[in-house]
Amino acid sequence: MEKTICVKVSHRRKRVVLVLIILLGFWCQQACADTLTPQNWSPTWVNPAWDRPANMVLDRQISVPGDIELTQILDPVTCSGCHSDIYNQWQGSMHGLAQQDPVYQAAAKLFLAEAQASGDTGAIEEARSCVRCHTPVGHLSKTIETSDGNFNSFSADDQRDGIFCDFCHTVKASAGIGNAPFIVDPGKNNPTPGTKWGPRGDAPPTGTHDREFSELHTRSEMCGMCHDVTHTLNGTPLERTYTEWRESPYNTGDPSTTVYCQDCHMRQKPGVPATGSTARPDNPGQSSPAGPERPHIYVHYVVGGNAAVSSNETIKQMAVERLQNCAEVEIEAPDSLEAFTATSIKVRVTNTGAGHYLPTGLSEVRQMWLHVIVESSRGEILFESGRVDTEGTIDPNARMYNIVLADKNGNHTANVALADHVESDNRIPPKGCTTETFTMGLPVKALRGITITATLKYRSASQSLINTLLEGAAPTLPIIDMASATKSVQR
Ligand code: HEC
Ligand code: HEC
Ligand code: HEC
Ligand code: HEC
Ligand code: HEC
Repeated sequence: MEKTICVKVSHRRKRVVLVLIILLGFWCQQACADTLTPQNWSPTWVNPAWDRPANMVLDRQISVPGDIELTQILDPVTCSGCHSDIYNQWQGSMHGLAQQDPVYQAAAKLFLAEAQASGDTGAIEEARSCVRCHTPVGHLSKTIETSDGNFNSFSADDQRDGIFCDFCHTVKASAGIGNAPFIVDPGKNNPTPGTKWGPRGDAPPTGTHDREFSELHTRSEMCGMCHDVTHTLNGTPLERTYTEWRESPYNTGDPSTTVYCQDCHMRQKPGVPATGSTARPDNPGQSSPAGPERPHIYVHYVVGGNAAVSSNETIKQMAVERLQNCAEVEIEAPDSLEAFTATSIKVRVTNTGAGHYLPTGLSEVRQMWLHVIVESSRGEILFESGRVDTEGTIDPNARMYNIVLADKNGNHTANVALADHVESDNRIPPKGCTTETFTMGLPVKALRGITITATLKYRSASQSLINTLLEGAAPTLPIIDMASATKSVQR
């Protein structure tokens, strides 16, 4: 009898599944029709119609080199005259430094040289694409050309070489997600500075520049243009921050409850980390003395985990505050101890506050790992994992959370241009966790009691990579303690 019911149910299920598959097929034709194959210079894909900002367009007429003259683009100093708070926040930010960043420049030059040496035209093409995101105006105005390996910045007092005001706010539309599909429409410089696209568009004209509401600017798709990087020819996913966020619980599909990139990254101020596990309060004020008082003005520090490159102490401190408010470490240890038998200690790491994987972005290069120490009651170290030696090298057996890229021959490579596939990825998903087991044999002296300390650590890159890239000029990269736990087991 039971069996019959079971069969009946499963028949009905089959029918439901069949209908679902047909419906899915229809939906896929609609939604997946907008998925593009990876191509040279973007986009990788376009949001489906029900989830597309009004100014994400399908014609794919992205801006290309030669479309603008450098003289059409205003220097951030011009904007600072009326938007001084925003300017001060942005100055020294990773966006402002995206081109001047010595780590980026050294990597770009090395990766191009290695690609050229390999003779692989796909790799050479990829190595020339860096400029599109790191110096969009340098690229579009053909001021920074890479065909000859020239990645050099503009003159020292010209701040138009990174990612700055009059780039982001002359973006009038996007052609999709990934590989920088921006469509810019700058003015003609002073006295006709053109339209600035932004989140408001609700107040009278500013007297200086026209402005227009851009839904794109209010949503993660603005960031998703550049924070989703795909190898231009072989399609290897190199950075997936937008996609990780899109698939996370922070994206509920309902704009009133969704936590956009801006809700975390454009609400952070010194002392207010604004992560997924901390408050993200409003920042009331004016964006310009000539503008109205508003309940919230978007903040422009836009800090991530990088406390190494900027010389601005505020930015560095904010990166530390961000890292220290996004993860939790817990220890699970046995209640009693026995000498000479294998003892297992479990350490759980939870991503409580990042709206994407932890870490994200250039996760082949970033280092996040566990440092675990077991000490006797007299402070002797009985077990250790994840120690950093005097050269800055991490214990090769450490539990690391990153992406490993491999080239065509299956060899590990940090060169994104030579990357052919992702070999492994063990990062921690948003609101997800991972548990590590450390097994050790404890000596007799452990029987008087032990103390276990587990610390989650972060460094922007390995010290050896920075030494290779920057040679004599390499600084010692800071190692940041993100979260830690201690547990004692008494006899
Ligand atoms: C002479 C003063 C002045 C200068 C210079 C100026 N702005 Fe503005 N801007 C304003 C005022 C006033 C507002 C309106 C503020 C408000 O509505 O809260 C504004 C608003 C904006 C907005 C918001 C648009 C919206 O409606 O969402 C953006 C974006 C913007 N400016 C960008 C820039 C950029 C980029 C520069 C430099 C190229 C610049 N501004 C230079 C006065 C100025
Ligand atoms: C990486 C791109 C980016 C850069 C660089 C950038 N902005 Fe913005 N800006 C944004 C986005 C996105 C918003 C809207 C955030 C939202 O609504 O969620 C915004 C908002 C604004 C606003 C409206 C603020 C408000 O809340 O009313 C002004 C004014 C503004 N930006 C001016 C500037 C100035 C001046 C600079 C340079 C010092 C600058 N921006 C640099 C992306 C950028
Ligand atoms: C034009 C492309 C572009 C756009 C648009 C853009 N970014 Fe970025 N962003 C970059 C690049 C390139 C860097 C890396 C600069 C570097 O490290 O040299 C960066 C750096 C960052 C960092 C710092 C990362 C770290 O390691 O500390 C954060 C955070 C960030 N972006 C968030 C955002 C958010 C949020 C938005 C949308 C409001 C956005 N970005 C829009 C290209 C872009
Ligand atoms: C719920 C809050 C939250 C949201 C939403 C969020 N982030 Fe983050 N982000 C963080 C925290 C916390 C960190 C620091 C930990 C880390 O490095 O991942 C961070 C770090 C970063 C970094 C630096 C990563 C690294 O280690 O090099 C980048 C780049 C970044 N975010 C971009 C984005 C973009 C783009 C979006 C939207 C697609 C976004 N973030 C959405 C909280 C958030
Ligand atoms: C589609 C946009 C895009 C392209 C193309 C791109 N990048 Fe980036 N790059 C980013 C973003 C976004 C970040 C910030 C992610 C993070 O902080 O982890 C970044 C960060 C970096 C960093 C980290 C800088 C630091 O100080 O830690 C390096 C190095 C870098 N990129 C090198 C390159 C090179 C070399 C190329 C060309 C082969 C390239 N990028 C092409 C978007 C891009």
